Amino acid sequence: MSIRNLDDLLAEGVSGRRVLVRADLNVPLDKQTGEITDDGRIRAVLPTLSALVQAGAKVVVCSHLGRPKGAPDPQFSLRPVAGRLGELLGAPVAFAEDTVGDSARSTVADLADGQVALLENLRFNKGETSKDDAERGAFADQLAALGDAYVDDAFGAVHRKHASVHDVPARLPHVAGRLVLREVEVLSRLTGSPERPYVVVLGGSKVSDKLAVIEALLPTVDRLLIGGGMCFTFLKAQGHEVGTSLLEKDMVETCRNLMERAPGKIMLPVDVVAADAFAPDAAHDTVPADGIPSHRLGLDIGPETVAGFAAALSQAKTIFWNGPMGVFEMAAFANGTRGVAEAITKADAFSVVGGGDSAAAVRALGLDESSFGHISTGGGASLEYLEGKTLPGIAALEN
Ligand code: 3PG
Ligand code: MG
Repeated sequence: MSIRNLDDLLAEGVSGRRVLVRADLNVPLDKQTGEITDDGRIRAVLPTLSALVQAGAKVVVCSHLGRPKGAPDPQFSLRPVAGRLGELLGAPVAFAEDTVGDSARSTVADLADGQVALLENLRFNKGETSKDDAERGAFADQLAALGDAYVDDAFGAVHRKHASVHDVPARLPHVAGRLVLREVEVLSRLTGSPERPYVVVLGGSKVSDKLAVIEALLPTVDRLLIGGGMCFTFLKAQGHEVGTSLLEKDMVETCRNLMERAPGKIMLPVDVVAADAFAPDAAHDTVPADGIPSHRLGLDIGPETVAGFAAALSQAKTIFWNGPMGVFEMAAFANGTRGVAEAITKADAFSVVGGGDSAAAVRALGLDESSFGHISTGGGASLEYLEGKTLPGIAALEN
């Protein structure tokens, strides 16, 4: 990879220099309390930030959180993240009330060597996500004025053509941070020549979100195991009735074509947990995949499916997993995701977990993170990488 990385920047010396770090601190927050429910993405960026702190840089961190609409919106403030980041770094993090305004400028100006500041949510500014190059560029100018060098460590956002990801690196000396470097190294192992069998597990709610990656992976993988909400569109394509389960009618034909194109490669559930309602206490039973009652909806894969998926995974030498197998947030529908995750940890394989939701599932289910080869911080980003797409954030670092 022809990308300069953090070590190159550190070798130049960063003491006293303002280093603007684009991080992906888009962490899940509790809807009621606003508390951070999973700080995995904050911890993932610590190696880069600590190295810069130790080298005496003035570290200016920026990130998005959620999807505010180009204007300040208190529910998406990064302030709680500044608190948590400070705890993890063991030193207070100064918080700027805006992204490129008076507060940001004075917060950055007040930084001593080795201190860290966090700017307010990038997406409080229209220019961050604008499709208009000039509007994005004008915002990138303001952001770039807050740093002397730029580090991209926001792997989860490298697939976005946003000002902080795509336009700032054109304005400052730029390098990839430790996280971005590691993510790209790991994912390139999957797109290169993965050790076989290469087994991919996909879940999540919509086929339409995953279609591009399925198309790209189908010729490459030995086995593609499909669970989660999206399996019902495939089951429908097999000719089964799916009751009131999630169904993308306009994707049924596409699913049929995918299965015909690669006979035997795609493994679908043979049983599902079908419930009366989408609720944690809904009445539910395990039923065969071809016997879902008309008034019920599937909320998890069943135990026979877990056993079949586990058998396929136990043969694998390389595994990529994206997307939960069921509604794992509800205990009654978490067994599929837990079973598949455990099977992945037991396999004698190089395993990669891709995505915000799957990574959060690993932690929420109390599984040992270190028993996976790599847990990616990027959902959409890791999928687009595997699709072979050009990622605007990576391309910008190459230039
Ligand atoms: C993510 O959570 O997938 C990344 O932080 C990117 O967020 P986005 O999908 O809102 O661009
Ligand atoms: Mg996302």
